[in-house]
Amino acid sequence: MILVTGGAGFIGSNFVLDWLAQSDEPVVNLDALTYAGNLENLASLQGDQRHVFVQGDIGDFALVAGLLAKHRPRAIVNFAAESHVDRSIHGPEDFVQTNIVGSFRLLEATRAYWGCLDATEKAAFRFLHVSTDEVYGSLAKDDPPFSETNRYEPNSPYSASKAASDHLVRAYHHTYGLPVLTTNCSNNYGPYHFPEKLIPLVIHNALAGKPLPIYGDGQQVRDWLYVKDHCSAIRRVLAAGRPGETYNVGGWNEKPNLDVVHTLCAILDELSPRPDGKPYREQITYVTDRPGHDRRYAIDAGKIERELGWKPAETFETGIRKTVRWYLDNQAWVANVTSGAYRDWVGKQYGAQS
Ligand code: NAD
Ligand code: TYD
Repeated sequence: MILVTGGAGFIGSNFVLDWLAQSDEPVVNLDALTYAGNLENLASLQGDQRHVFVQGDIGDFALVAGLLAKHRPRAIVNFAAESHVDRSIHGPEDFVQTNIVGSFRLLEATRAYWGCLDATEKAAFRFLHVSTDEVYGSLAKDDPPFSETNRYEPNSPYSASKAASDHLVRAYHHTYGLPVLTTNCSNNYGPYHFPEKLIPLVIHNALAGKPLPIYGDGQQVRDWLYVKDHCSAIRRVLAAGRPGETYNVGGWNEKPNLDVVHTLCAILDELSPRPDGKPYREQITYVTDRPGHDRRYAIDAGKIERELGWKPAETFETGIRKTVRWYLDNQAWVANVTSGAYRDWVGKQYGAQS
């Protein structure tokens, strides 16, 4: 079996669902259920013996050690993190706690467990750390995309805390020989994306008749990957990646934010037109830019393609259409998550504009 952390979040829950759709290998899912964790994402697994959910913190050494001793996983996939840049600007402490201290304790518990495995199990064991392209910092307009050898230049408390965790993972390989793998992926989108991130926020606000907030001039570039493609990349790296290596994962889909929002508006105009017949793009509102906003991210996903034969299955056009349809078909999911803590966040971030 495998241990997945953060498997009730956006990418983690997509990963668990896809994993169990493709294999019978059981998953122990350790998730603290912060505001971003949602067991509703995994409702289709209710009663499925292959999925064991445990609510808890990756930073709880005793809990993790107990889970490892009990379930004896052959691999750990670490998704658990605080993941929202804007939240890291308002309150960096949780990011340091989970992304740095939590990852450290998870590594320590893993090292203790791995050290006691027999030689064959030890060699086969993998610790896969899911990270982000944001650790590389910001690119100028004409810079080549990030490769695995780019310098780490994180600019936000989020990316700095992820960079720190990447360094710890690397050190556990070089110092203790732990068979680690790290993936650095670009921006994901797709089902179960919490509606505080750009794409689900825009879909949600558009349908609710609210402003579509564009930070600054909207010309910041992100490289978008459909979440199911990220999950397939992680499965591929877990199966065939070389321990100690890092793999950049991306969709070859660089888009300025404003283009992404225009695309979403056009798809919504077609699939769910406004009652007054006007285009959704009329709801676009320019708001104050994010402090220290990274201008451009772009991923060179050549290494994972050359060495492991992985390529994304979706283009941006196919993936974004599936995503809009998913949100239209799952309004109840959106309504359930856009309560409580989420509303408090929107008030803090966008103030009167929300
Ligand atoms: P998310 O915020 O949607 O989910 C994170 C999950 O981790 C939640 O279920 C939360 O409850 C859980 N969690 C938080 N702190 C925890 C703790 N201390 N112990 C156990 N569980 C805890 O994030 P996501 O978008 O699904 O991202 C998953 C991983 O992928 C993160 O490590 C993130 O850095 C990385 N990543 C995300 C993107 C993206 O575009 N979303 C891109 C590249 C990499
Ligand atoms: P986000 O989804 O928060 O991901 P990240 O910051 O990790 O890239 O934001 C994606 C881009 O969209 C980023 O450049 C910030 C911008 N953005 C807006 O313009 N308006 C918004 O309301 C949000 C949430 C993001």
